[in-house]
Amino acid sequence: MMTINSIEELFKATQAFHGSIGFVPTMGALHEGHLSLIRQARKENDFVVVSIFVNPTQFLEGEDLDSYPRKEAADTKICELAGVDLIFMPNVAMMYEADELSITAPAIRGFILEGSKRPGHFNGMLQVVMKLLNLIAYHKPTEFRAYFGKKDAQQLALIMQMVKNYFINVEIVPCNIVRSSDGLALSSRNVYLSKEERAKALSLSRSLRKATEMVMRKEFSVSVIEKAMQEVLEEVDVEYIAFVNREFQAIDEVEIGNTIMLVAAGVGNTRLIDNLWI
Ligand code: PAF
Repeated sequence: MMTINSIEELFKATQAFHGSIGFVPTMGALHEGHLSLIRQARKENDFVVVSIFVNPTQFLEGEDLDSYPRKEAADTKICELAGVDLIFMPNVAMMYEADELSITAPAIRGFILEGSKRPGHFNGMLQVVMKLLNLIAYHKPTEFRAYFGKKDAQQLALIMQMVKNYFINVEIVPCNIVRSSDGLALSSRNVYLSKEERAKALSLSRSLRKATEMVMRKEFSVSVIEKAMQEVLEEVDVEYIAFVNREFQAIDEVEIGNTIMLVAAGVGNTRLIDNLWI
């Protein structure tokens, strides 16, 4: 496995990749969720590239950019064991110039939910994903796939839209959410949770399970389901509960096969998101 820290070396290495490339962009602090993306990429491609870059432009003022968990040595080991061919670990100066073109997320998908809670976050996320896709596929592999988790459902929808709008030659592969045995969706930010907070955090996945049970009992009214979810989420600071279709338009009635139920909440100082696709 190669670990590469410069764009020149990256181009040299990828030029020698004759075959399909599966790319998993990350901000490091790898967990089982990332590993499932890497495993899928490994299965479906000749070469697997993982990037590790804590991207400053997607953090807002006062967010956890400085304290975001950084675990280079452990991440490298995990990638090696998972059969990754190349880790790309650039620094900020390599990735950004002082005065750059920017990308603005579209009005509906980009400025509701996470977009309204974290204004500017998606612009920075799209900017870095565009850069990374262009860098990894610079030498035009025969096939190019990039793997993203459904946990960041809105991020995934925006990346798919960017790829479509900008005619980027990549297949985006959405991957299922990975949960720990108690139901908590895996996230690099879970390390911030104390034991008590972690117990409270479980209410996010519990609320989504409750919603699913109601849908299975043919309760499709979003307002009724939302009320029941609120009750489950009593012990956390709910930021939003939302029901959207796959186009990220708000809906009043659940439609099986075309609904994403999302929840975001603060638990202590940690902000968590979770969702379920039905
Ligand atoms: O989901 C993430 O970890 C990040 O948003 C991504 C896609 C790696 C871009 O920095």
